[in-house]
Amino acid sequence: MLKLLLGASVNSEIRMRIAVLGAGYVGLTTASCLAKIGHAVTSHDVDKNKIRALQRGELAIFEPGLDEAIREATAAGRLLFCEDVVSALSDVNVVMLTVGTPAKCDGDIDLSQVEAAARLLAPYLTPAAIVVIKSTVSVGTARRIRELIAEERGALDIAVGSNPEFLREGSALRDFLKPDRIVIGADDRHTAAVLQEVYAPLAASQVPVMVMATPNAELVKHAANALLALKIGFINDVAELCERAGADILEVAAGVGADSRIGTSFLMPGPGYGGSCFPKDTRAFAAAGRRHNAPQPLIEALIERNEVRKSSVAGLIAGMANRAGAKVCILGAAFKKDTDDIRESPAMAIAVELERLGFEVHGHDPKAMANARLAAPSVQWAHDPYEAARGCEIVAIATEWDEYRELDLKRLCAAMAGTLLFDLRNILHPDAVLAAGLDYRGLGRTSRRSHTGPELKSGPPRRTAGHRTVAGAAM
Ligand code: UGA
Repeated sequence: MLKLLLGASVNSEIRMRIAVLGAGYVGLTTASCLAKIGHAVTSHDVDKNKIRALQRGELAIFEPGLDEAIREATAAGRLLFCEDVVSALSDVNVVMLTVGTPAKCDGDIDLSQVEAAARLLAPYLTPAAIVVIKSTVSVGTARRIRELIAEERGALDIAVGSNPEFLREGSALRDFLKPDRIVIGADDRHTAAVLQEVYAPLAASQVPVMVMATPNAELVKHAANALLALKIGFINDVAELCERAGADILEVAAGVGADSRIGTSFLMPGPGYGGSCFPKDTRAFAAAGRRHNAPQPLIEALIERNEVRKSSVAGLIAGMANRAGAKVCILGAAFKKDTDDIRESPAMAIAVELERLGFEVHGHDPKAMANARLAAPSVQWAHDPYEAARGCEIVAIATEWDEYRELDLKRLCAAMAGTLLFDLRNILHPDAVLAAGLDYRGLGRTSRRSHTGPELKSGPPRRTAGHRTVAGAAM
C-alpha cells in the first residue's frame, strides 16, 4: 500500500518505513521531521476528523514551521495521513507511539491510550518490526506494553523500545532536528540497532545518541522535566527574596547561571510553570516515587509551590487594583510564547482567579485567543492589547510574547485608567515603561513609580494604581 502511494522514484531514496500513531504536537512534529531526514512516514490517529483535516492540508494547532514542514513532507511523498490503521502499519520497520498520556486523579499517568494503541497494532506487525514509545510514560511502561502486545499476539516476538522526546512547544522542529541528545531505550540489540538507524542522519551531524535500557530512558525524561521545573520553582522563590531584599533577580540569575555547572537556561522567574508537560510530569514523577516507595519530597513541594505561585500572583494583582470590581487586563493566555496552547497556563489561572475575586478581566493573546475564549468565555478577550487595556487599572503581562516586548507603551498608557504595568515575565525595560508615564513592577525587581504618568493623560490627574502596594509588596 505504502509503496504504491509513495511511488517508485521516492521509494528508492527511502531509508526506513515508520508509522507514527497519534497526531498531536509531538506526533506531527515527529512524523514531519522523520520524513525530512529521509524516512517514509505514515501518520494515523484514532480521531478520523483530525486525519481528514490533515489530508486536506489543515492543521488545527499552531507551532512555528510545522504547517510548512508537513506540506513539504507530503508534497515529497514522504508523509501520508492514513485514516485506516492497517494501511498506516503496512510494511513498516518501526511504529512510534505518540498518543496522549493524561494524568489520573492521583497524578499518575493514565496509560489507556498507549495500551489501546498497542492492542490496535499488535495483530498487524511482522516480528522484525519494533514498537517505540515516544509519549512520556512512567518507568517500566515499555516492558509492560511488550507483555501486553505478546498477550494479544500469543507470542513474545515484538520488541518495545523507548525514545523519549525532549522538544518544546514553540521550537518543536528545531528541538527535534537539533537536540542536545537522543535517548534510545532498548532492551535488546536489534531494537538498539534499528533505533540508531532511524536517527543516523542526526547522529551524522554530531548529535549525541545515548543507548540504555528502557527503564533508564523512561526515567531520563521524567527526571529531566522534574529538574527543569525545579530550576524554575527555585528561581521563582529567589525572585521573591530579591523583591523583599531590594535585589534584582535578573542580575542574580545571570550571576548564578554563569557557573557552567548550573547554566543560565530555565532561570527566568515568572508566574509559575505551565503547559501540558511540566505540571503533569512532575505529578507523575512524584506518583512514581510513591508507587515505588522512593518518595520525591523536593518535587512534591515544588508542585505545591507552583500552584501557590499562580494564586499569589493573582492575589498581588488584586491587591494592587485597590478595589473589587475594577477592570484589570491580562496580556497573554498561552502558557508561554509561540504557542496557542493554554493547558495549565498560569496566565489563564490568573485571569480566572481574578474573575473569582470579583474583578472585570480583559485579556488578549496573539495566537491562543480561540482556545482562551472557549476555556474562559466570561473574560473579555480583545482583538489587540490596547483594546484589552482600555479602562483598566492594571495591565499584567503574563506571557512573554515578542509582540508585548514591542508594545507602544504610550498608547497603552493612554488606553488605561490606571498607571501600573506589572511585567510578570520581566520582558520590558523599566526605563521605557516609566518614560511612557506608567509605573513599573516586575517580578523579583524593585518597583518603580513614574512621576510623569498622570500629566501625560488628558483630564484630571488619576489615582496611581497600586499606590499602597506597588513598592515592596511581596507574595
Ligand atoms: C517541556 C520541556 O522543556 C521539553 O524538553 C519537553 O520535551 C516537554 O516539556 C515535554 O515533556 O514534552 P514545554 O512544556 O513545551 O517543554 O515548555 P518549556 O519551554 O519547557 O516551558 C514550560 C513552562 O516553564 C512554561 O510555562 C514556561 O513559561 C516556564 N518557564 C520556562 C519559566 O517560567 N521560566 C523559564 O526560565 C523557563
